[in-house]
Amino acid sequence: MRFPIPKNFLFGAASSSGQIEGGCKEGGKGEDIYDYRFRTSPDYRPSDPNKSADFYHRYRDDIAMMKELGLDSFRFSFAWSRIYPNGPEEVCQAGIDYYNDMLDALLEAGIKPFFDLYHCDLPQWVMDKGGFVNREFIDWFATYAETCFKEFGQKVAFWSTVNEPNINIMAPYIKPAVTPLTGDIEKAFAAAHNMILANYKAIRIFKSMNLPGKIGSVTHVMPTYSLSNDPKDQAAADRQMAFYSGWWLEPMQKGHYPEILMQHPFVQEKLPAHYAKELEENFIEQDFIGVNIYGPYFAKYNDNDPLQIETYDSPFITKDGYGFGYYPQGLYDVAMDLKETFPGKEIFITENGISKKKWGNIEEERKDDYRVSYMREHLREVSRAISAGAPVAAYYCWSVMDTNELGSGGYSHIFGLVQVDYDTLERHPRDSWYYYQKVIADRVVD
Ligand code: NOJ
Repeated sequence: MRFPIPKNFLFGAASSSGQIEGGCKEGGKGEDIYDYRFRTSPDYRPSDPNKSADFYHRYRDDIAMMKELGLDSFRFSFAWSRIYPNGPEEVCQAGIDYYNDMLDALLEAGIKPFFDLYHCDLPQWVMDKGGFVNREFIDWFATYAETCFKEFGQKVAFWSTVNEPNINIMAPYIKPAVTPLTGDIEKAFAAAHNMILANYKAIRIFKSMNLPGKIGSVTHVMPTYSLSNDPKDQAAADRQMAFYSGWWLEPMQKGHYPEILMQHPFVQEKLPAHYAKELEENFIEQDFIGVNIYGPYFAKYNDNDPLQIETYDSPFITKDGYGFGYYPQGLYDVAMDLKETFPGKEIFITENGISKKKWGNIEEERKDDYRVSYMREHLREVSRAISAGAPVAAYYCWSVMDTNELGSGGYSHIFGLVQVDYDTLERHPRDSWYYYQKVIADRVVD
């Protein structure tokens, strides 16, 4: 069988500033939370943000490789701390020049730039002032966003305000995310709320500037299933999905928190009453839905866990080296669910990928038949979803090259189409790179 992909579909690959750039002390960059953690915590050595793939100096060569691969689009992020190193008052011109040059290189290569304003690497000055929980966050973010729109607005084709707020913003406040809920859920709700309002504010500014690009946000959506056909477990799966993914998707796309959680006594008790109204008053539409899709989650009812936060393993699902379950149909299910819930909204699959833990043989590690199979099976699901009417417009493989998994394992995970030899910084395309090159050229998945 063959699985067609439309001619105008965008084939992409993604990465982020904090994960491949390096150059942490160059170009006037300020410290971000990962630089800070590296400096202050000895446990964090595996994730040295400065080591990195050195994209900071090598982006022209790397972009030449992306062109050879045939990418229609490259998803990357601006490092907020390169543009506002010390606070919201002063812009760093070297940061602006650096990204302008990178954008020019992408455009010269015929690759459409997709840029996140924020992908995990929060400036340390924001953190020092309370991070997302501080309501001033909304204005700091809007100021930064406006500067980026002004400086890069004629070059960026697709913008995302924020990457995976559900993982990066909420998780730190609800940890340990196991039952019973022992983290600070009130802080989590406050952080999430400020982030959503910041998102609205940035989008409102963007729309007022009449720029050529489109804007959305990126949520990590876990296809979530019940572990059994017990109605209680099924309801737990709905609640879990509404908490992890819906808490962002619904406000970002519709201007309200998920109904099934708003009716829950736990949320009614913990969520400030004025939050819902504030969303309604400030809501503004995005142009597309960005979703990162990895492994599925499984839920079963737990009386002590009001939001059903705890996830369980399914005996039928194998896991990759990172711990993500392998279930390609999850991509199809998410696409169809988004089509039903947010009709007419374009869907960008902003991340999808697989990792193995390095085993130390640099040549062997180039042979990634596991990634070829993973991509093939997930791209088939993309094709199936499009045939079934889901408006999937783009697919970005995670990652264009090996990355630093900032919080978990640093450089020990292999996520890249391109291998980075961290001793020499040489790049080597993996087998999956050649596979993807052919799919992109043929516009057909085998
Ligand atoms: C999603 C995150 O956006 C990205 O930063 C991370 O590397 C991948 N997941 C893999 O864990």
